[in-house]
Amino acid sequence: MHALITGANRGLGLEFTRQLLARGDRVVATARHPARCAELNHLCGDYPGHLHVLPLDVANPHSITELARELVLVTPALDLVIANAGLNISGERFGQLKAEDLARSFAVNAVGPVLLAQALTEALAAGKEPRMVYISSVLGSISARDSFYVPSYCISKAALNMAMRQLAYPLSERGICSVAVHPGWVRTDMGGAKAPLTPEQSVRDVLALIAGLKPEDNGRFFSHEGQELAW
Ligand SMILES: NC(=O)c1ccc[n+]([C@@H]2O[C@H](COP(=O)([O-])OP(=O)(O)OC[C@H]3O[C@@H](n4cnc5c(N)ncnc54)[C@H](OP(=O)(O)O)[C@@H]3O)[C@@H](O)[C@H]2O)c1
Repeated sequence: MHALITGANRGLGLEFTRQLLARGDRVVATARHPARCAELNHLCGDYPGHLHVLPLDVANPHSITELARELVLVTPALDLVIANAGLNISGERFGQLKAEDLARSFAVNAVGPVLLAQALTEALAAGKEPRMVYISSVLGSISARDSFYVPSYCISKAALNMAMRQLAYPLSERGICSVAVHPGWVRTDMGGAKAPLTPEQSVRDVLALIAGLKPEDNGRFFSHEGQELAW
């Protein structure tokens, strides 16, 4: 299988890359600054020919276009794309919300994945049982929200869920199954030290979920354990 992961230099993205390589898959790992990705560059040595690291800033539409252009030199087809890169701005307070924080969260968490899916549709359509997976969050669930908490993140993840559902229709016409997945509360830079799940556990669960996806799962929102989540 050939997969592409965004935000692959640390956290869940790095762990997706590790586990996919360990099971024999080929991976295009993308990051904002490939030259600074020590772990990814180390993995390139461990899995020669199986890992390509390409630059991608998901908040920059030009960078997404360039990625699609460079990808053709690596592979004509992708079987899995994981839109994993995400941004959570902490410390927001009611009365002091900034347009800049809302816009940056929206650009990374919602607009980037939309443009990425659009730019990679041809490559996915050429893949085998292709899957477009958006790493969302239960914090993007409108019905589950019961307090004022990281609003830019929650608003942008709710938008991501709608984007996934919208795109699921044209993508399914090309044979691509799309889902949004909450990875659990995970011990990464974003999740913090108190999170109960390790990246290894979360990614193992999400990869098992992806492997078991059926056509009728297209356009749905799941937890890492495979439970369907409320919008
Ligand atoms: N950890 C959790 O508990 C949790 C819970 C629910 C959902 N999630 C979601 O899971 C995904 C991965 O989160 P994580 O915990 O691994 O977070 P993380 O450790 O903070 O890593 C975030 C990743 O996203 C990348 N990124 C941020 N802005 C980017 C941009 N403009 N272009 C390209 N890459 C960008 C970062 O790259 P840089 O190093 O260049 O900044 C980094 O690789 C996110 O979508 C997050 O919302 C996480």
